[in-house]
Amino acid sequence: MTNPLAPDSLAGRVAVVTGSSRGIGADTAKYLAAAGAAVVINYRNKEARALKVVGEIEAAGGRAIAVGADLTDAASVAAMFEAAETAFGHVDLLVLNASGGMETGMGEDYAMRLNRDAQLNVVEQALPHLGAGSRIVFVTSHQAHFIRTTPTMPEYEPVALSKRAGEDALREKLPEYEAAGVEFVVVSGDMIEGTITATLLERANPGAIALRKEEAGKLFNVAEFAAEVALAAVDPIPAEHTRYVGDVSGFSPATLD
Ligand SMILES: NC(=O)c1ccc[n+]([C@@H]2O[C@H](COP(=O)([O-])OP(=O)(O)OC[C@H]3O[C@@H](n4cnc5c(N)ncnc54)[C@H](OP(=O)(O)O)[C@@H]3O)[C@@H](O)[C@H]2O)c1
Repeated sequence: MTNPLAPDSLAGRVAVVTGSSRGIGADTAKYLAAAGAAVVINYRNKEARALKVVGEIEAAGGRAIAVGADLTDAASVAAMFEAAETAFGHVDLLVLNASGGMETGMGEDYAMRLNRDAQLNVVEQALPHLGAGSRIVFVTSHQAHFIRTTPTMPEYEPVALSKRAGEDALREKLPEYEAAGVEFVVVSGDMIEGTITATLLERANPGAIALRKEEAGKLFNVAEFAAEVALAAVDPIPAEHTRYVGDVSGFSPATLD
């Protein structure tokens, strides 16, 4: 997949991409870096993978650092922003990509703690760093965005509810963002082929991916969806602050009330 962003279009910008040691976050970070942004590659515990992403960015002539921070740990989030400031001087793009909740052994409320409470805390800690002209991009799935009106697979429901709760909590702060000159956009995508989440859901619901693909006509892969997330960092803010990626015709509307 070629970079959707023009070379040097993000020169001088500094991005923090949460959960960018792999998958959609890693590809997004690489697109941003190739367009000239200095990027913080955040990981929870996969340091080697994060360092590999940094190495790839540097080999391509870009700038990046890897910073470990469990987003459910407020102190490590604060340290992540300090590390970004120390390395690059400022932060003006925050991509809230990290997500979870299907892991075992993390406690019953883990999905809510990560996908709602931690997202809100990351934004609250980011705001003092983000000057006018900065942007926050929140990444979610159609299955979460539309969960109030369109049911999803039972295995994904707690994640969907928690991600929608996180989206709502972040939207409530829109007046605060506007007052600070900070823009906000949600990127909502259908199931992404080749991801761990899609693989887990397919295992529990054999045929689910093929069925969704048939209904939607096409499912995006990781690189294609990451390209949309990267574009959301620069394109004009869409209606209702929501960028839909792929088909939404199977989902009932009226969720933004
Ligand atoms: N997968 C899909 O089908 C799909 C569809 C539409 C939208 N999306 C959205 O796209 C985004 C990325 O999805 P993905 O499938 O690429 O995710 P993923 O493969 O599960 O990767 C999640 C990333 O988040 C990090 N992470 C998890 N818990 C964390 C924590 N407590 N603190 C810090 N980082 C943490 C992981 O870091 P470690 O590797 O270090 O654990 C990893 O880098 C999510 O917001 C998701 O909702 C996904």
